[in-house]
Formats: sequence, C-alpha cells, structure tokens
Amino acid sequence: MPHTHIAPGMPRRVRLIDWILLVVIFITIYTILHNESDNEIETSDVQLEKPIWKKEDIREMCQFLEHEVTGEEGDQWVKGNDYEKKLRLRGITVVFRHGERSPVSKVEDDIGCLASRDVDRKAFVAYKELAESDEIKAFLKLDPQLKQYPRVPLVSKCVSGMLTAEGALQHLRLGKYFRHRYEKTKLFADENQRIVADVVSSKYNRTVQSALAFSTEFLYKQRTFLAPIQIKASNFSYHCIDQSCACQIHKSIRRIYEEEHLQQFNEMKSDDVADEEKKFLSFPQFAASFDPFQMIDVGLGSFICRRKTLPCRLKECVTLDSFNKMINLTTSRGSRMFDDKIGVARRLQSMEAYPILSYLRDSVNKIRKFPHSNYIQIFSGHDVTVGPILRVLGIPFVDPPHYTSRIVFEIYEHSDDGLFIRTLYNGRNKTYNIRFCQGDDIKYGMCKATAFEKFVKEGLFQLAGVMEFKDMCYI
Ligand SMILES: *[C@@H]1O[C@H](CO)[C@@H](O)[C@H](O)[C@H]1NC(C)=O
Ligand SMILES: *[C@@H]1O[C@H](CO)[C@@H](O)[C@H](O)[C@H]1NC(C)=O
Ligand SMILES: *[C@@H]1O[C@H](CO)[C@@H](O)[C@H](O)[C@H]1NC(C)=O
Ligand SMILES: *[C@@H]1O[C@H](CO)[C@@H](O)[C@H](O)[C@H]1NC(C)=O
Repeated sequence: MPHTHIAPGMPRRVRLIDWILLVVIFITIYTILHNESDNEIETSDVQLEKPIWKKEDIREMCQFLEHEVTGEEGDQWVKGNDYEKKLRLRGITVVFRHGERSPVSKVEDDIGCLASRDVDRKAFVAYKELAESDEIKAFLKLDPQLKQYPRVPLVSKCVSGMLTAEGALQHLRLGKYFRHRYEKTKLFADENQRIVADVVSSKYNRTVQSALAFSTEFLYKQRTFLAPIQIKASNFSYHCIDQSCACQIHKSIRRIYEEEHLQQFNEMKSDDVADEEKKFLSFPQFAASFDPFQMIDVGLGSFICRRKTLPCRLKECVTLDSFNKMINLTTSRGSRMFDDKIGVARRLQSMEAYPILSYLRDSVNKIRKFPHSNYIQIFSGHDVTVGPILRVLGIPFVDPPHYTSRIVFEIYEHSDDGLFIRTLYNGRNKTYNIRFCQGDDIKYGMCKATAFEKFVKEGLFQLAGVMEFKDMCYI
C-alpha cells in the first residue's frame, strides 16, 4: 500500500477523488498566500505614510527577524538604461536608527529580552563570540570616548533604553542586506578605486552596538577592500563631530520641544483619543506615559515587539487600535509643528539635520576632488537623528521612525554631467519628495548634487529663518 492513510479495500475512485481534492486545496492555499504577498508589496508605499497598526505594520515597527529586509538600494536600477555605461556609484551616506531596545521608562526583567526564536538565540551566541574576537576588535576599533561601551548587548536582560539581543541581530541582518545590495556595484567592485569608510555613533550603548553589528556584516565581511576603521564618537544625538555644529544647550532646546509637543497633543486630541489616553494611564505599565511617544515606546518595547499580550482588565484592554490612534496623532503632529513653525520645532530640527547633511556635502566635494576614492559614511543614531533629516528634506514619514529605519544617499558620477544623489528611506526611492529637487535639478531620476550643496549652504538656514548655524542655538 503506497498511501497508508487510505483504508485497505476502499474503492479506487475514492482515492482518485481524494487526490484531486488535495491538489485543489493546495492550489487554493497557494493562490491565497501568493495574492496576499502581492498585495503587501503594492500597499507598502502607502503604509509608510498612513500607518494603520495591522499585523503587517507591527512587523515593520518591530522588525521581527523572521522577515527579510527589502528595498531598492544599489545601482541595479541603472541596468538597461541608455546611460548605464556613464553612471558610476561613488559613495553612500547612511543614517539609521538603532535596533530594538527596551523602553526608556523603568524596566526590570532578567529574562524577558531573550530572543524569542531558537535560531536567533543561537545566532546571537555566535555573533557575540565574533564581536568580541581580537580580529574584529582590530578591524572595527572604537574611539577612546566609546571604549567603555560593551560591544554587544546583554543576552536576556531587559534594561531601560538598552538594545536587546534581537536589536543587535536586526542590524546584522540590515548590514548583510547592504552587503548584498552593494558588493557588486562600482562602489566596491572597481579595482582602480580605494574606499574610504567612516562610521560615527552617538555615545549610547544602543547606538555603538548597532554600529558594530551593522559594520560587521557590511564592512568587516568585505575587509579585503577596506582599511581598519575607527568608529568616531559624536557628543550629540544629532551627530555633530566638529566645532562648527556644536550646540552645548541642544538638550535643553529638545526638552522645550518635548514640552511643546505634549501641549500640542492636549490641544489636538479628539474625545476618542482622550478616552484612549485615560485607558492607557489607568494601567500601571503606562501610568508614567503622558505623551503618546511614551505610550508607543512602552507598548512596543515591553509588549508588542516582545510578543507579549497587551494589558487587559475585565472588559478594558489596551489594543493595537489604541496605538493606531496614537501613532496617527504623533505623525500628523510632527509634520504640523514643523510646517506651521509651532514653537522651536523647525529651528531645532533644522539644527539637528545640519551636521549630517553637511558631512554629505563634504563627501560630494571629496568625490569631485579625488577621482580614485569612493566614500562610505555611516551614522548610527536615534529616531531623533533620522526624523529631522526627513523633515527638512520634505519626505513624509511615520513618526516615530521604527527601529533600524534608514536613510540612504547614493552619490553617482555621470561621466559628462557631474554628480547626482539618489535618496532612499527604508528602501524606497524618495528623490522626488525632496523639497529642493525640482525641475532642472532632476536628471536620470536623481537630484543634482549641486542642489544639495546649495541647500546646505543657504536653503536650510532660510527654512529655519536664520543666517547661520549658531543662530539656531539659543533658548
Ligand atoms: C551600558 O551597558 C552596560 C551593561 O551592558 C551597563 O553596565 C552600563 O551602565 C551601560 N551604560 C550606559 C551609559 O547606559
Ligand atoms: C566632545 O566632548 C569631548 C569630551 O567631553 C571634548 O573633548 C570634545 O571637544 C567635544 N567635541 C565637540 C565637537 O564638541
Ligand atoms: C488619523 O487622524 C486624522 C486626523 O488627523 C483622522 O481624520 C483619521 O481618521 C485618523 N485615522 C485613523 C486611522 O485613526
Ligand atoms: C525615483 O523615483 C521616481 C518616482 O518617484 C522615479 O521617477 C525615478 O526614476 C526614481 N529614480 C531612481 C534613480 O530610481
């Protein structure tokens, strides 16, 4: 009997029908699954701007490790164009948020941050061993100011504000994705070129550890092309590493902005949202979360991304829809405060976007000046590093940007026409959203590098209503 599940003595026809049924069921399931994944791809662009916390959005917010990173980074889009032979990728500047972390509010949990899947626990053990090996320490060195930070997060402990093991693995995964997208481009695969790579991190455990994880996969694994790297320390969450952009009172200005956006929340909230707020505050885990950013932070870091059920009592529960309402509000609040110049919003975020955009301009200058060097810049930061850059460029986004959110500037050289920049956010090309990339400044589907240079020199200050950087640093 080849098919043991069929009782002996059954008529032949029944078996045939069984088989046909089975095949039909398989085809149906396959079709449904297939259609579902197609729909996902089609709607993902819309999701970025209009968050609805359904399952797929949670997957984005949490960056669960069972899903692949997707995106359009790299020069694959050039293939088949008339100008294919004339364009060359000469540099990239990458800005990302750290991986998953515990909430900033108080947390005490000795095992709650263990990776949830067995494969990830094993992968973390293997990564920790690699990250602490002498070979990697000799290739990815740390600025003396960063020496005190452990290279990997704790395996299983949740400590407030600290990266989780899965958070580090998310950046390994992202680094690996970048390697696959760029290893065959002219950035790496041009033997006449030398590569200069710079990595900068703010002075936090989570950003240093994210920088190391990302660079392990993206740079260390391509070390035959690169000289050893020293990760630089930024004194500010906005990644300023020289005196020209230092603002010693930056934290105080940010605190003012936070008070202002809490006030905006109180003015903007509908009755519906006010009811949700009351519900949040009635649960001890959320009792100290006054701003929706804090509610979202606790919700993700303590429950949703840790795959735990949300708190519930009798008939009252915190639900995904509660977060949906809050994130809808924070997203529109952020753009409104910037667009309508409410309080310090625009001045602060222009200040925060300036250093990285000015380092991008420096990269453009070096690419022009040194034809045999390619440049890679990596900035490992926070939601408050990524957000302001998107804001000043005019790229819409869900606020707060999820863990590992990434902005990529790809710098291309055209053999007759000079330098161009392609800008991506979370894997999607956003060049056409940029406020100053219009009309003649657009060519080959990209923005002229000169438009960026002009923006950093004048446009950004005009946007903030000031003359120069130091005019933005006051209370
Ligand atoms: C960084 O993490 C270590 C433990 O992994 C901890 O002892 C230290 O206090 C943390 N540093 C900061 C600045 O949070
Ligand atoms: C950053 O801080 C260090 C030590 O606190 C200081 O020596 C350095 O000058 C600062 N850098 C900038 C750009 O402010
Ligand atoms: C999001 O907020 C806007 C108002 O800013 C409201 O019109 C819309 O219905 C909200 N969407 C959801 C899904 O709550
Ligand atoms: C970027 O996106 C725009 C549409 O938004 C498209 O027209 C353009 O060709 C794309 N450019 C590149 C270089 O991918």
